Amino acid sequence: MKVLVTGVNGQLGHDIVEECQKRNIEAIGVDVKEMDITNVNQVNEVITETKPDAIIHCAAWTAVDKAEDEVEQCRKVNRDGTKHIVDVCEKLDLPLMYFSTDYVFDGQGEEPWDEYDERHPLNVYGKTKYEGELEVERLKKHFIIRISWVFGINGGNFIKTMLRLGKERKEVSVVNDQIGSPTYTYDLARLCVDMIQTKEYGTYHATNEGICSWYEFACEIFKQAKMDVIVHPVDSTQFPTRAIRPKNSRMNKTELDKHGFTRLPSWQDALERYLDTLDQQ
Ligand SMILES: NC(=O)c1ccc[n+]([C@@H]2O[C@H](COP(=O)([O-])OP(=O)(O)OC[C@H]3O[C@@H](n4cnc5c(N)ncnc54)[C@H](OP(=O)(O)O)[C@@H]3O)[C@@H](O)[C@H]2O)c1
Repeated sequence: MKVLVTGVNGQLGHDIVEECQKRNIEAIGVDVKEMDITNVNQVNEVITETKPDAIIHCAAWTAVDKAEDEVEQCRKVNRDGTKHIVDVCEKLDLPLMYFSTDYVFDGQGEEPWDEYDERHPLNVYGKTKYEGELEVERLKKHFIIRISWVFGINGGNFIKTMLRLGKERKEVSVVNDQIGSPTYTYDLARLCVDMIQTKEYGTYHATNEGICSWYEFACEIFKQAKMDVIVHPVDSTQFPTRAIRPKNSRMNKTELDKHGFTRLPSWQDALERYLDTLDQQ
């Protein structure tokens, strides 16, 4: 099997290519330099020339707050870029895996979201990822994988920010009223490479197991990293950001179970392995 992976310089794309290589699956990783997804001709050319059996599309505009001010730029990547890929997949009858987000939901209530619940994004990033989902849904052979609070070795993320802040200060304040699940790209990559080799198309939620608030996540990071940092829980109103975030990002894994895929390990276990890997670097 030959897979084309977009966004290879990002957190997830990097780990997907590595996972393919471990399994002797040919993976061609591209990023903005080799295939700018906003450039329809380049997308056509690269896909046609590489002749993949499937595409794993990790490239995205992921700067959530910046998106509020650069709406069209964000939409150009997340909706239009995805559309360009979908159009070629449609023409060549290729399966496509697309990554989406808990931000397609509005975060009301406390019940976990099901895969096919109605989507009402609260911010620009969420809206454009939702629009990307709509494009991908045009294909029969599609996987939509919703994830949240992503961390990987190759890039910036919440854990790296906490470790840096913990070295600079004795105390940090972290929001305690947004509940969700962290997702380790290493674990996710293993699932995705399993999945792309099947015909179990559909929409999935695929975070690590268990839920927490950002505050609880931060406490666990400092505990596992053996850092003596006091974490103060604060309300979102005390920590205003440019983009509104959903408070309830709990997500059910009904479709993973139904299609016989193994859920990812707990987020605490993932964090432990991630910190070990960071230590070894
Ligand atoms: N990070 C999260 O917390 C999170 C949460 C839920 C869902 N997701 C989704 O999961 C997927 C992977 O996320 P990630 O954290 O791995 O993202 P990431 O680290 O930001 O990587 C995205 C990659 O896409 C590239 N890219 C941006 N614009 C492009 C363009 N026009 N053409 C080609 N490549 C372009 C980026 O390059 P530059 O860095 O040069 O822009 C970057 O290398 C994305 O679909 C994202 O929306 C992420």
